[in-house]
Amino acid sequence: MYICLEGIDGAGKSTQLEHISEWLVESGFKVKKVNEPTSSDIGKLLRKLLKSQNANCEDMQKVFGLLFAADRLILKKELEEYEENNEIIISDRSFYSSLAYQIPQKWIYTLNEYVKIPDLVILIDITPNLAIKRCSQQDTFEDETFLNDIRNNYLKLAENEGFKIVDGSNGENKVKSDIKKAIAPLLGICVDGIR
Ligand code: TYD
Repeated sequence: MYICLEGIDGAGKSTQLEHISEWLVESGFKVKKVNEPTSSDIGKLLRKLLKSQNANCEDMQKVFGLLFAADRLILKKELEEYEENNEIIISDRSFYSSLAYQIPQKWIYTLNEYVKIPDLVILIDITPNLAIKRCSQQDTFEDETFLNDIRNNYLKLAENEGFKIVDGSNGENKVKSDIKKAIAPLLGICVDGIR
């Protein structure tokens, strides 16, 4: 089972990934936490480039499209091994981040033809305004207009691809319980973890 948290920067994905992973472990599941960009050489290069001044320019976004697809393809084998081992993969971002952040979409689909697609995507939705308030102000992507476009891309994807949407502006505990409610039926458990 491959479950993914998506959302704009500052949505609270990494905090919730920890909560959800803890809950699943307590419920008796074997869990593997994953992050994109990964810690591969390509992932490291991506983190460096994401901080560069021209990160928002059109050609650079295409470079990101290529590199993220490559990083994800390297991750694929690892994900398959986890699944073979009956581990639940819980991921901060996936292929859908590329569809939300990079263009053109048709090309992004082609680049990602062979990557692993999550079984369940939870979109933690917040407004760009809240995202900016929460973020460190250091990331090149933290521009309100840019974040607004990404948020709209996510909302469109959610409708077309059947993501579960959770309101990320609610407190940490409410967001956690909403995510649990979205995951529990898929695993045949109650929100309190009892099978
Ligand atoms: P982020 O989740 O902020 O990573 P971390 O908090 O661990 O540094 O992701 C880094 C940035 O990468 C984020 O602004 C979104 C961007 N991104 C893309 O543009 N395309 C992608 O395919 C992915 C996975 C991320």
